[in-house]
Amino acid sequence: MAVLACSRQAGTTVGSSPEVEARVDKLLGQMTLQEKIGQMNQVSAGGEVSNYADALRKGQIGSILNEVDPAKINEFQRIAVEESRLGIPLLVGRDVIHGFHTVFPIPLGLAATFDPALVEEGARVAALEATAQGVRWTFSPMLDIARDPRWGRMAEGSGEDTYLDARMGEAMVRGYQGASLDSTSMAACIKHFVGYGAAEGGRDYNSTFLTERQLRNIYLPPFEAAVKAGALTLMTSFNDNDGVPSTGNTFVVKDILRGEWGFDGLVVTDWNSMGEMINHGFGTDRKDVAEKAANAGVDMDMMTYGFLSHLEELVKGGAVKEKTIDKAVRNILRVKMLLGLFEHPYVDVEAARAVQYAPEHLASAQKSVEESVILLKNDGVLPLKGGRILVTGPLADAPHDQLGTWAFDGQKEHTVTPLQALRARFPGRVDYVPGLRYSREKRDNFADVTAAARRADIVLAFLGEEAILSGEAHSLADLNLVGSQSALLAALKATGKPVVAIVMAGRPLTIERDLPNVDALLYAFHPGTMGGPALARILAGEVNPSGKTPVTFLRTVGQAPMYYSHHMTGRPYNGETLLEDIPLEAGQTSLGNTSYYLDYGAYPLFPFGFGLSYTTFAYSGIGLDKKVYGADDTIQVTFTLANTGTCEGTEVAQVYVRDLVGSITRPVKELKAFLRVSLLPGESRQLTVQLPVSELSFTGLDGKRKVEPGDFQLWVAGSSQEGSPVAFAVQ
Ligand code: NOJ
Repeated sequence: MAVLACSRQAGTTVGSSPEVEARVDKLLGQMTLQEKIGQMNQVSAGGEVSNYADALRKGQIGSILNEVDPAKINEFQRIAVEESRLGIPLLVGRDVIHGFHTVFPIPLGLAATFDPALVEEGARVAALEATAQGVRWTFSPMLDIARDPRWGRMAEGSGEDTYLDARMGEAMVRGYQGASLDSTSMAACIKHFVGYGAAEGGRDYNSTFLTERQLRNIYLPPFEAAVKAGALTLMTSFNDNDGVPSTGNTFVVKDILRGEWGFDGLVVTDWNSMGEMINHGFGTDRKDVAEKAANAGVDMDMMTYGFLSHLEELVKGGAVKEKTIDKAVRNILRVKMLLGLFEHPYVDVEAARAVQYAPEHLASAQKSVEESVILLKNDGVLPLKGGRILVTGPLADAPHDQLGTWAFDGQKEHTVTPLQALRARFPGRVDYVPGLRYSREKRDNFADVTAAARRADIVLAFLGEEAILSGEAHSLADLNLVGSQSALLAALKATGKPVVAIVMAGRPLTIERDLPNVDALLYAFHPGTMGGPALARILAGEVNPSGKTPVTFLRTVGQAPMYYSHHMTGRPYNGETLLEDIPLEAGQTSLGNTSYYLDYGAYPLFPFGFGLSYTTFAYSGIGLDKKVYGADDTIQVTFTLANTGTCEGTEVAQVYVRDLVGSITRPVKELKAFLRVSLLPGESRQLTVQLPVSELSFTGLDGKRKVEPGDFQLWVAGSSQEGSPVAFAVQ
């Protein structure tokens, strides 16, 4: 049932209305200062509800996180609504990051689908399951651009690209919150604001040093897009940028988010990120950091208890104005009202059960895996033909690990592993010898696996990372396959049997050394509940892989950070010699003096946007409707895409643009549009993409976002490293 008619009003990003504002004001007028501050306090609610009863009755808790039992959530709400003076319901939060019970691929895998509509559908499924149990707020989507795969949280976002990240972020916001707000709406929380993905060295929680122009051109646009899509809440990040921790950063929170974008949703800190400003050396004590956070525009404190303990004193002493508190509480109450919590604070515990793992939810999760898996190599061994199959590797039957990071509520009993799915799909044809039980296991004798491989016609090796190796606080300095997995592949290769590797991981691992030992390679990220059936269908050829890399795959970790949209240097790489090609006796010699590594060159293993198919595609006839455009025009890009192979397939056609000369140096290419196109064998189709010239804008030297007139190039291709450009100009 729709709770409120929320047509977007001017001046409100969350879709409030004069009626809602009047109700908020009325309630605010009845609140004591202590009750207001109570709303600004969020508490992690493990254990018995009775432990929180006293604080709830006093109105000292505005929100809880980490309780998912619907009966307990009802009890929390009952005390808040029926036993506190003003009866304000709680906002119940949870990290529902890639599904609630039905777990979807990790967000990085979802980004590989390049399919925002499907991602929106997945977020809707997550919202249906979570809200049925009383969870009305998810701490997702994570919009942090991540260009260093050592950072374990790359798993939680959409990868390296600003445009792709923005489209995925909007899709998730729409999916979580629904077309209009009702009892199945789960407030999205866009996080982590801002720059957290640029943590130095890929070490989690580390400092960032992003200039204002980098923020405005690369890191902020996905947040702005998600605010425009109606995101109800936002979370500040753990990092300090150029010396200022986000939770106390007035420039990004107050000036940009509130001021420039007019965000009137709720801003919450990350877990104790207010308190951590003391560790940063940005505040003397909890009172000091509470003052800094409140004055920066933060509304709710997650787990520092800084607001609850000190705001009253700070207001009385004049360091924080009561009108700052009123603004924060308005932002909180507004979200609660828009979600309809005042009318419907309780959930139906029995009905909640029926919603979890519904067949259509599992089907949606399976489709998401089918579109997210990337075919990185295929020497003709896939799809599978007849014969015996050896299944091996630590991820073949690891229901917990295939769920990936932040899958608290996914149950491994409901997870279908590749081994289970392949046995069901190919009855009597599958042998299973794990070889390694865990990805980190070390072993040097694979006699049991190789003997089994010799009896088989093809080997399917499921490798990668355990779930615990990626996600928050799980940075790695070495990105090769861990443990003895590479040795297992080498031993399998030595049997002479065709070997297919299926990698499940939270990040792009450096798999260059393994490629010669495999005849085909599928990259599945951590695929979630339905990973098994989806992979079985892809391997069998019922589904043709269509995923594309949402992030650059490095040859070696020393290349990090490497991303396709880098700026042109004064000495671009020009195909110069590598060190290994220079004879030792040559002595001192010039190696070219351009930008590359002597030992690893200038290119990655797989570029952004790359992915093969069981068929082949050809692009032709790329043309634009004009040669010269005005700033308000829309460019019509037409091209013909043909399926030149022998089976049906889906291609992600990508449009890249380069601004040749600017008031500042510009990226060599930037993704500006993409579309998924399905074609029958032999079919070809003429397609049109509308590209508003305003998409070419950037923030230049004068700090203003605009399109600078001049010459541009445009590519339409199947990856960021293919195709030839067509020229146009903007006047
Ligand atoms: C810390 C993480 O950084 C954040 O992403 C998460 O939402 C909160 N903890 C709550 O669990």
